[in-house]
Amino acid sequence: LGTVEVELAAIPLGQTATIKWRGKPVMIRHRTREEIALAQKDDEASLRDPQPDSERVLDPEWLVVIGVCTHLGCVPIANAGEWNGFFCPCHGSHYDMSGRVRKGPAPLNLEVPTYAFIEDGQKLLI
Ligand code: FES
Repeated sequence: LGTVEVELAAIPLGQTATIKWRGKPVMIRHRTREEIALAQKDDEASLRDPQPDSERVLDPEWLVVIGVCTHLGCVPIANAGEWNGFFCPCHGSHYDMSGRVRKGPAPLNLEVPTYAFIEDGQKLLI
């Protein structure tokens, strides 16, 4: 099956790039220092699908999730919603800065695919 290489320098701080991987959208967010702090602080929040941010990222600066809402599979909008993470417009699920579900009907966090950093962290291999 296909792998994709993503040039990380092309994704500005605070922005999210969407690539297509095995027919699914994968969203790569270049998190700012403030966004990383928020994601880590929310480890303490009451979470529907509890998982610390540290278990969802390889490098705190980069959040990589499959852009498929865990409710009924719509594609969420990045940098949106009450937590400014992801918002699914289909039935109103909100995900935080770590892609964890915080509100709405989605039962689970956005899935984290298997990936690796290559070429001294210049690229992501997924
Ligand atoms: Fe996303 Fe229903 S598919 S909230």
